[in-house]
Amino acid sequence: MEKLVITGGTPLKGEVTISGAKNAAVAILPATLLINGTCTIENLPNINDVKLYCEILEKIGAKITWITRNEIKIDTTNVCCTKAPLDITRKFRASYYLIGSMLGRCKDVQVSLPGGCNLGARPIDQHIKGFEALGANVVVNQGNITATAKKLTGTSIYMDVVSVGATINVMLASVLAEGTTIIDNAAKEPHIVDVANFLNTMGADIRGAGTDMIKINGVKELRGGASYSIVPDQIEAGTFMLSAMATKGDITIKNCITKHLESVTAKIIEMGGLVEEDGDTIRVKCTKRPNRANIKTLPYPGFPTDLQPQIGVVLSLADGTSTINESIWESRFQYTQELVKMGAKITAQGKSAFFEGVKSLSGAPVCSTDLRAGAALIIAGIAANGKTEVYNIEHIDRGYEDIEGKFRKLGAKIERVNE
Ligand code: UD1
Repeated sequence: MEKLVITGGTPLKGEVTISGAKNAAVAILPATLLINGTCTIENLPNINDVKLYCEILEKIGAKITWITRNEIKIDTTNVCCTKAPLDITRKFRASYYLIGSMLGRCKDVQVSLPGGCNLGARPIDQHIKGFEALGANVVVNQGNITATAKKLTGTSIYMDVVSVGATINVMLASVLAEGTTIIDNAAKEPHIVDVANFLNTMGADIRGAGTDMIKINGVKELRGGASYSIVPDQIEAGTFMLSAMATKGDITIKNCITKHLESVTAKIIEMGGLVEEDGDTIRVKCTKRPNRANIKTLPYPGFPTDLQPQIGVVLSLADGTSTINESIWESRFQYTQELVKMGAKITAQGKSAFFEGVKSLSGAPVCSTDLRAGAALIIAGIAANGKTEVYNIEHIDRGYEDIEGKFRKLGAKIERVNE
């Protein structure tokens, strides 16, 4: 077991380059199963969720060649197995994309119910509703899901809740279906557009991704043979933007899409930070104690729930009292108990948390309760006075590439050591 040891009190300064988007990567990897041939994926983040996905794909017959640490060639010609390795699929949430992609490819799939971060109830009823509307028979039994179909036929599907996972999964299942599928009340996150762009590059006919109505005209096959570069990670970029605010730093974030970060930029300006945008670069500078602010998490283009813990650190240190209203996940305030150990004054009640800003935090041993909570605790440790030890960092390694290396380059005193 490893932990991160941070000696805090350093304002972060310098340049950082953003990796490919985790949430796009974990959808594009299973999407390769719809191709009967090869493709090359570039700007693939080198993170544990990607390695796990590659392991699953290899176990069911895909051939993967690592060209660099961020680029793979994948040949799915010989994929024949319909049963995903249940011990691995149980480990992370995004394994649910195997249902849509393998249903699309083989019309037959078995996976275990997805695990992942503990953020409260994580139903997949909208995924199942979509698969059934396309003609699949879906059975949930003893923690596993089996989906089978004689054939999949395009239809109109209205999503009862705006769901990233259900939108992508139904898109995957309908790419090779007969006729046209319409997903109404679709999610609009950047990685939905990225998955649609990947599939279109490989030969699919998907229109409207990024709006709330996506139209998928079924095609006979995806020819593959092309290269695709994954979009920069919106959440990683936002994590570094907020770390500049928490540490009164000055960070230039390279390789990001500024449009994807508008909700974060708006809040940073409201909190008194300075933001300069230049092409695919954002500079965030903070010269004084941040102002208080209220946050409500929402589906894109609203403020992302996956940046809620990170902005929570900034609000812990802000001048005045702030509120966060979490509207996506029912249990996303576990990190606040860890920040309280560092001297933060936070009261969390149900889906709201109240932050009475303090002038400084002090280092303490803390536990990363989930992926984004882990990133928030690193930021808190860098901003705090004294030594912080962050435990359970396996959550962080699932989704951030070389996080301590990137923070160290910005001046943080951070080391990974064996417990
Ligand atoms: C994805 C992201 C996750 C992010 C979340 C919200 C991936 C791999 N993960 O998760 O990091 O926090 O989007 O931006 O991309 N819901 C239902 N029924 C369903 C599906 C979802 O009620 O069938 C509800 C959920 O309980 C939640 C909301 O819809 O309240 C949004 O969930 P969803 O967008 O599906 O999240 P994920 O795709 O799991």
